[in-house]
Amino acid sequence: MSERTLVLLKPDAVRRGLVGQILARFEAKGLSIVAMEHRTIDAPMADAHYAEHVEQPWYPPLREFAVSGPLVALVLEGDEAISVVRALNGATDGRAAAPGTIRGDFSLSNRENLVHASDSTESAAREMALWFPDLG
Ligand code: CDP
Ligand code: MG
Repeated sequence: MSERTLVLLKPDAVRRGLVGQILARFEAKGLSIVAMEHRTIDAPMADAHYAEHVEQPWYPPLREFAVSGPLVALVLEGDEAISVVRALNGATDGRAAAPGTIRGDFSLSNRENLVHASDSTESAAREMALWFPDLG
């Protein structure tokens, strides 16, 4: 079933010049880019995006990271896109993520792990409405 999912190429991906390589993986997999924007977010937007995590002890440094520079937000579409993109991204901690995944190949951190992707149909709907309110 075709799905849409919200993806972020986090500030480390932009700083490190990995945007093209990461997008190439999604495109090579067969996913379509249906919206994409380069932007820098403020703390309230970070809090809204990471609403489920704002009480975590590790949230303040995560917020600092999220607002530390421009990121690329996009919506990807394709068959089972939500789970497919999570699999391409790999495990949260780049040190533990499997080789062949984006995090496994390019990240050595459990915070600066390059990519975000929605984890369910509910979070995809919430996150797409937050980032791309005009997307039909
Ligand atoms: O991104 P993912 O859904 O894989 O992981 P999460 O558990 O929902 O955590 C969201 C993000 O918080 C992660 O991608 C990391 O960037 C960050 N994080 C962190 O800074 N420190 C942790 N101990 C765990 C996660
Ligand atoms: Mg998550």
